Amino acid sequence: MRTETPVAVKLKDYTPYPFEITVVTLDFDLGAQKTVVKAALSITPRGQGAMRLDGEALHLNYVAVGLAGEPSKPVDPADFTVDARGLTLHAPPQQPFVLETEVEISPEANTALSGLYLSGGRLCTQCEAEGFRRITFYPDRPDVMSSFRVRMVGPKDEFPILLSNGTPGASGDLANGRHYAEWIDPHKKPAYLFALCAGDYDVLRDTFTTMSGKHVDLGIHVDKGDAPRAAWAMDALKRSMRWDEEAYGREYDLGVFNIVAVRDFNFGAMENKGLNIFNSAYVLADESTATDFDFEAIESIVAHEYFHNWTGNRITCRDWFQLCLKEGLTVFRDQNFSADMRSRPVQRIKDVIKLRARQFAEDAGPLAHAVRPDTYGAIDNLYTATVYEKGSELIGMLRRMIGNDKYREGMDLYFARHDGQAVTIEDYYACFEAVSGRDLSDFRRWYAQAGTPEVRVTEAWDPATGTLKVELSQSVKPTPGQPVKHPLPIPLLCALLDGKGGHTAEPFLHVLEKSNETLELKVPPGSPRPSLSVGRDFSAPIRIDRNLTREDRLALVKAETDPFNKWDGLQTLIKDEIIALSDGSQTNPDHELVAAIASAVRGANDDPAYAALLTRLPEVGELFLERQQADPVALAAAQKKLKTALYHQLANEVSETLKAAPPAPYHPGAEQASIRAMRTAFIGLLSASDSRDAAPALYGLYERAPNMTERLSTLRALMFTKGGAKSEAISHFEALWKNNPLVMDKWFSVQASTGTAEDVKRLIAHPAFDLKNPNRVRSVIGAFAMQNLAAFHAPDGSGYRAVEATILAADKVNPALGARLITAFEQWRLLEPKARAEAEACLKRLVEAGLSENAMDIAGRALAGGA
Ligand code: TRP
Ligand code: ZN
Repeated sequence: MRTETPVAVKLKDYTPYPFEITVVTLDFDLGAQKTVVKAALSITPRGQGAMRLDGEALHLNYVAVGLAGEPSKPVDPADFTVDARGLTLHAPPQQPFVLETEVEISPEANTALSGLYLSGGRLCTQCEAEGFRRITFYPDRPDVMSSFRVRMVGPKDEFPILLSNGTPGASGDLANGRHYAEWIDPHKKPAYLFALCAGDYDVLRDTFTTMSGKHVDLGIHVDKGDAPRAAWAMDALKRSMRWDEEAYGREYDLGVFNIVAVRDFNFGAMENKGLNIFNSAYVLADESTATDFDFEAIESIVAHEYFHNWTGNRITCRDWFQLCLKEGLTVFRDQNFSADMRSRPVQRIKDVIKLRARQFAEDAGPLAHAVRPDTYGAIDNLYTATVYEKGSELIGMLRRMIGNDKYREGMDLYFARHDGQAVTIEDYYACFEAVSGRDLSDFRRWYAQAGTPEVRVTEAWDPATGTLKVELSQSVKPTPGQPVKHPLPIPLLCALLDGKGGHTAEPFLHVLEKSNETLELKVPPGSPRPSLSVGRDFSAPIRIDRNLTREDRLALVKAETDPFNKWDGLQTLIKDEIIALSDGSQTNPDHELVAAIASAVRGANDDPAYAALLTRLPEVGELFLERQQADPVALAAAQKKLKTALYHQLANEVSETLKAAPPAPYHPGAEQASIRAMRTAFIGLLSASDSRDAAPALYGLYERAPNMTERLSTLRALMFTKGGAKSEAISHFEALWKNNPLVMDKWFSVQASTGTAEDVKRLIAHPAFDLKNPNRVRSVIGAFAMQNLAAFHAPDGSGYRAVEATILAADKVNPALGARLITAFEQWRLLEPKARAEAEACLKRLVEAGLSENAMDIAGRALAGGA
């Protein structure tokens, strides 16, 4: 069996929906095996012609139409058609009418986790992007906004808590152990924001008073016994609500805000109006089960979903091409929230690491696409690093160019002008043009052009006139469907450094507009040559190429005053070093470089989180982009060599730091987390020590670990050691945590991301491996294919063969998940010839075996694309 790739949807084909849906009334008779959904849509035609409703996997019981104020009558079978994708009413009334349908769906049989499904015995929904059509017949597109009223009926013992969007209405008991509840959402919304949850939960409750004094009831719904573990999520929620008031003047707009945690979920979380649904991994945390990384992720995802209330829900997208309008902007908002909660430079560096690892890789391969593409295949596959992370960078550049005040004015205008609407990127930018008086049409090209721009910087110094001549040239490599690229306005934050910790010229913003430009930077006559600091704070999502020697770069790192650039200067040196070690042009790590890293680490001891980042060595995947053909096995070996050298340079600091006890009592906030980040970094370095004492030392730390942050970092470090300690720790951890699925995900992931193909086969065969649970599948297949590149891309193809059958099986169960896993192949063309041939053969076998449309969209592009 082979599946066709999905039919492409095109931006230029957009037309408004020819009907207005004023009110949607939904009536659910809930059951795990069978749920009956009655829908009544109040409709006003805006034109003439047939009415098309989306619908998938629905069993239709009846369809009826009634003119406003009259009883409805069944529609004659000749007057409507149902096909695999929806329902067409051939000749709907040309005046306001009510359309009634009744359908049956099976939540239990829904393993795609889109629409209404069962997770841990409870009912929940996921409607973005196109899940509502798996609940009832409806124009399932974001520009159709309507008022929703929901009534649910079900057995009270099985579903004691009944939740939907908006505010609770009537509720009560019925005959035969059943009960009902009504929810009314006063805000018009698109169907993708609909949500319903039913089941038995423990609830952590709290309240919030908004800036104008309105009272909000907050509830986080979790598994029985887990309520205390939702405390951090609750704290993050209240801080998010306050932050949006202070930073953007945005107040919450309902009296109720609920979060529900579910174990089976395709993404991180979902911003349904007044009823956010979360992957339980991003709700539940305490010191013994969650790492600082988890606490930080919870804080930022809770904020992200909450911030969508204004950027996404009150103002939504006209169509899915505009996805970055809500996602890029909301990521930008959550990143700034996190920066305010913690350290701004550390946050910036982490965001850039993520951008480079995921988005730059996407841009460099067959899946490259614009932040706002003009065509897509499967919509689920548009939730990418480009839309989210690069989308956020574009907002950051806008703010940098117009300044904080104009940015805020523009946002205020956007909220005022478009509240309650479904809009486009053009509508958004028109607000900033209005407040700044600038023409931003050139800047908007960033949304249309795929690929990572590269800026070449060449300098010439004239001591006679005290002039530093800086030549800047930009280029972008071709991407699939976009062979010709145009220059973009690139904001470059620059400064001239005096080499003594100060500036010869204070930071200034230069916007590079043309392909080539020359800057003449003058310093007072007689001054020594200044160093150029460019791309400070990562002021644009680009690659900067400077033709500097190792000595120049080391001097620049010492002179840097920008924390991002200081870190990045070292990263560039480290990347070059790993590549030189991997291709054999150098045998041993350069002592001067290793000493420079160590001294930067020591120099940052007042900010341990920053110091921890200075010890970081780039991941193998990041190095793929630096030199082709990429040899992951050689790169991983070279990275290890450098890590060992760095360990030896810092051995005293490592042992001193790890001798001290971790901070107690535990608090997840930035101050303590920063200290633990340094410990984690040093534990990682210790794993690269070639001494026989390392494994016992790590095992000792593992055994004494007072929290999961240290437990997991020592377990991970032990994976790189030889001898009995490693397997002892693996069994100990499993015995301790076998009943906690989130912790067991870590157990799987630690092994899959460090082990061999044989290890992965063993993990897949483990009784707790579960194809229906995306977290578990990702913790094995995702961790192996995306974090363990030397083993996944083994030249003999053993890595691919270890996971191939499981990817196929996962795709059958859950196409969104299957497609996501196949993106691990996106870099295959960059590989050395052996792995490359094996990867291509594996992709072809997958296609031959038969993939879902979602997965075929990825596999097809991966095989076809390429420059
Ligand atoms: N809109 C969600 C967010 O960014 C993510 C999302 C999109 C999602 N589609 C999904 C979540 C499908 C779960 C399942 O916050
Ligand atoms: Zn989002």
